[in-house]
Amino acid sequence: MTANAPGPEEVRKGTFRFPQRHFLSVFDLERPDVERLLDLAEGFVALNRQKAKKLDLLKGHTLINLFFEASTRTQSSFELAGKRLGADVVNMNPRTSSVAKGETLIDTAVTLNAMHPDILVVRHGASGAASLLSQKVSCSVVNAGDGQHEHPSQALLDALSLKRAFGRVEGLTVAICGDVLHSRVARSNVGMLGLLGARVRLVGPPTLIPSGADRWGVEIAHDLRTGLAGADVVMMLRLQLERMEGALVPSLREYFRLWGLDREKLARAAPHVRVMHPGPMNRGVEIDSDVADDLSVSLIQDQVEMGVAARMAILASMAARLDNG
Ligand code: CP
Repeated sequence: MTANAPGPEEVRKGTFRFPQRHFLSVFDLERPDVERLLDLAEGFVALNRQKAKKLDLLKGHTLINLFFEASTRTQSSFELAGKRLGADVVNMNPRTSSVAKGETLIDTAVTLNAMHPDILVVRHGASGAASLLSQKVSCSVVNAGDGQHEHPSQALLDALSLKRAFGRVEGLTVAICGDVLHSRVARSNVGMLGLLGARVRLVGPPTLIPSGADRWGVEIAHDLRTGLAGADVVMMLRLQLERMEGALVPSLREYFRLWGLDREKLARAAPHVRVMHPGPMNRGVEIDSDVADDLSVSLIQDQVEMGVAARMAILASMAARLDNG
């Protein structure tokens, strides 16, 4: 933690300041904002490991989770984060709501907004959905993943995981590997890691690297062994077959042979390398179980744990902003 790191007391006293009313994009954030969020999250990691995990920072506040796409990690961690901070949490399921009768995204959000929630956490398949909603509602909106665009809370929890594993993010070489084209996690991490001073390498077949990525201030490699050379961190991405139009990869077997992370390929990275994956994983497609389950290299379970703390920091920051203007 940095000196004079903010904690729950600063949120409670109203001295914790966060400039954004919404949490939509990593590219809206300045480095000091992220560092404050990471410091705040550190305190919540300790709280989450205690028997008594509840605070009252969000007492009286209402949080609505509105997930139009499937989620295990993000939805449950926002729910836990809200409950551990004392909020009333409602999980809307579009499959059993009036969305199933044809109600639009905006009508659904405006309807929920009329019930005076304080924070709306939204996941939607369309890029820009959370940003659009933020212009239609009076509450704070948190982007829990919008199409192929961004997943900013994932980037925050990844930064927290790295900071705890290495003591810093600055100066790390992070290879983000696989299906970068369809990955909101990759986009948000390019922004977040760049903001915190890491060196980012995008590694994948030309069909899965976005055109224009050479202007993102990153290195690009089209061979996994080359891309992993000397990397401190290897962040594997899920192959998102559901977002692909046409065959962008050969067979899954061939993909694993060329792009799947196994021990042999990982040996190209730095000796102290740590492996990340946002989940859910396709075992035997982008990552070998032997690597994913080896706790001496894998940070994957730490990422899940840090997800709750990072999201508590985001919600507490939104609440601080609501309470203190
Ligand atoms: N990493 C991530 O967003 O996982 P979920 O889809 O399970 O929320």
